[in-house]
Amino acid sequence: MRHERRLRHNPAVRAIQIVEESGPDSALALAEVDEPKATDVPAGGEGVVIEVHAAGVSFPELLQTRGEYQFKPELPFVPGSEVAGIVRSAPEGAAVQAGDRVAGLCGIGGFAETAVAPEYFAFPLAEELDFAQGAGLILNYHTAYFALAMRGRLKEGETVLVHGAAGGVGTASLQVAIALGAHTIAVVSDEAKAKVAEQAGAEHVVLFGEGWKDEVKTRSGGGVDIVLDPVGGERFTDSLRALREGGRLVVVGFTGGSIPEVRVNRLLLRNTEVVGAGWGAYVMSKPDLNREIGARITSMVDEGVVRPIVGARFPLERAAEALRMLDERRATGKVVLDVRPD
Ligand SMILES: NC(=O)c1ccc[n+]([C@@H]2O[C@H](COP(=O)([O-])OP(=O)(O)OC[C@H]3O[C@@H](n4cnc5c(N)ncnc54)[C@H](OP(=O)(O)O)[C@@H]3O)[C@@H](O)[C@H]2O)c1
Repeated sequence: MRHERRLRHNPAVRAIQIVEESGPDSALALAEVDEPKATDVPAGGEGVVIEVHAAGVSFPELLQTRGEYQFKPELPFVPGSEVAGIVRSAPEGAAVQAGDRVAGLCGIGGFAETAVAPEYFAFPLAEELDFAQGAGLILNYHTAYFALAMRGRLKEGETVLVHGAAGGVGTASLQVAIALGAHTIAVVSDEAKAKVAEQAGAEHVVLFGEGWKDEVKTRSGGGVDIVLDPVGGERFTDSLRALREGGRLVVVGFTGGSIPEVRVNRLLLRNTEVVGAGWGAYVMSKPDLNREIGARITSMVDEGVVRPIVGARFPLERAAEALRMLDERRATGKVVLDVRPD
């Protein structure tokens, strides 16, 4: 890890920067950077300035260390899409005010002691959740709600299969599915991850390997209504086969590496659908939709169903180790940086 010297004399904060696109081992540097201001939000206007206590670590940051993510800010930049902490200032009309505990989606800039989130992406953090859980509350849970309720059209009583179910999106999707009244089947690659999926509330857990699809069909009584897939790769065709008539396969990501291709006769034969769920780009320009999804997630927290599962925690300066965990398929739940330890 490099230590970058600061040349300017404005208020400074500690931050992790991506300084080159060479992967998590060498792309990061600990730096002192200018403290961001309320106006440092991409859409213009004023955002919510947050004293960051915990920052969530996600797949996009890993991809950004290699220049492989669709959003490519100019180097060097501070990565980090979501944070939790205390509001330092907020514009009029925001749902939070100075001194409140908050969860915020800042897009970039979260791996720092101060970050700024657009007003419509800053939500009061419930007392039941600590800062580490707050740092895992927006990206994964909003994606899960968007993918299941809005794209997958999940109805109460239906059965949802979640791939990569011990991961960040996976654990969130299990809990959101349960909150929406669904039965759940988790698919994971090992026993330790099976325990995490159970902790997230999965009704059934199936180990990925030969015969996984048949076991899913048995446990679901013939097939599932929705497959939520953040993994992709070679399991895709069997995922389609695991759907019951009228089922929907919701595409969320490709952690498995390869992008699957569909022979569309499979869709015709049993009236199934493949549906894309790209949350970030879709909601970014829709403040009211973000508030609506935020309200749904807040009520799931209030009901006690949504409880972000925090996996490994690292201090800010060990961000590279956090990203390596995701890269090596070792992460469970939400990986978090303790930026200002309690
Ligand atoms: N569409 C959207 O709007 C949206 C929003 C947020 C995130 N995403 C995407 O969703 C995906 C999952 O994100 P996440 O934060 O849940 O990641 P994560 O916590 O690392 O979980 C990903 C899971 O994928 C599985 N996996 C299979 N092959 C893998 C491999 N070669 N390397 C790593 N993991 C592998 C692992 O489960 P097993 O070991 O159990 O198979 C792992 O638990 C990412 O691609 C991310 O970019 C999409």
